[in-house]
Amino acid sequence: MILDSIVSKRILVRFDFNVPMNKGNIVNDFRIKQSLETIQKLLENKNKIIIFSHLGRPTEGVYEESLSLKPICKYLSALLDRDIKFFNSYTDDINFKDYEIAMLENVRFNKGEKSSNSDLSKAYASLADYFVFDAFGVSHRKESSTFGVSEYLKTYPGLNISNEISTINKLINEDSRPMTIIISGAKVSTKLIVIKKLLAKCDFMILGGGILNTFLKAKGSEIGKSLYEEDLVNEAKNILSSDFSSKIIFPTDLSCESESKPKNKDVCNISKNDIIFDIGEKSLTEIKSIINKSSAIFWNGPLGYVEKEPFDRGTIELAKTIAEHNCFSIIGGGDTLPIIENLNLQSQYSCLSTGGGSLLTYLEGGDLPILDKLDL
Ligand code: 3PG
Repeated sequence: MILDSIVSKRILVRFDFNVPMNKGNIVNDFRIKQSLETIQKLLENKNKIIIFSHLGRPTEGVYEESLSLKPICKYLSALLDRDIKFFNSYTDDINFKDYEIAMLENVRFNKGEKSSNSDLSKAYASLADYFVFDAFGVSHRKESSTFGVSEYLKTYPGLNISNEISTINKLINEDSRPMTIIISGAKVSTKLIVIKKLLAKCDFMILGGGILNTFLKAKGSEIGKSLYEEDLVNEAKNILSSDFSSKIIFPTDLSCESESKPKNKDVCNISKNDIIFDIGEKSLTEIKSIINKSSAIFWNGPLGYVEKEPFDRGTIELAKTIAEHNCFSIIGGGDTLPIIENLNLQSQYSCLSTGGGSLLTYLEGGDLPILDKLDL
């Protein structure tokens, strides 16, 4: 294990603590908990660590109280039962006692972070002897605190990113068939390229949410007042005319809000005022049978409008079916994990990924610049 060789050094560690927050409270702590192993390993070896991360997308150079890492610092300190000294800026005198940890304020408050400014990257690098990168969730971004600092400081992977990449590689390389990919979410724009690329790799693809609606629109189906992306209907049509389009399993029925009431309707019966919020009962049965014959499953994004009953049914049933079926499974995406935690099914999958966009980028074979610097 590479981290074992780092002893009594000063280490700058990048995590992805971009977690959902509500009025200063942490809504889901999965990413924070996934950092503990690396922190503990570095502390065991008597290293002094400086943690930094981003949270949200503030305007650079502008401090925004709601995006401060202070609540996360407090939370992590309680999890570790150890003092964490918080620094408002990387330009402060970063001095802390041997038994303490240091944490820096949200890196995205710093001018030059997003563009990976070399002066900023050098300033980060000057804070430590080594850089440990354990932020898989942001590994697709070329920013100062991710790729930038690795240009000026010897860089090692953290334990969580090492585990995640080796598990994801199994899905990609081991050729477990049939492979089912479930991609859902409000916006197709962020996931269109990955849908195209992954269609070539999988045996079955299941779509949900606004993504599904955009494809239904492209097929010429009535989708009423449901969320979809007009600009991408033509692109969805191109995908539908490709050789692999038969791998997409379209629902035969949908759960919608119709005349202010939840109703299960066949796709051909959706009317102009309906709003599609979930897949329907017959479709759910079909999806379950596909899951039960799959050897590998990758799932990103809730299938329906999970915040509102009964439109969480498809997502809950999908989570339970994958958990009960003995196969290789990777679940990713910040919106999916809280549902799994509510159902207490965390241990039933091969990997819960801390990645969202980065996971999709990795699966589609896209660019994750920092990975070239890590010996994974
Ligand atoms: C995420 O939540 O997907 C990562 O933290 C990356 O955040 P970003 O999309 O704001 O770069």
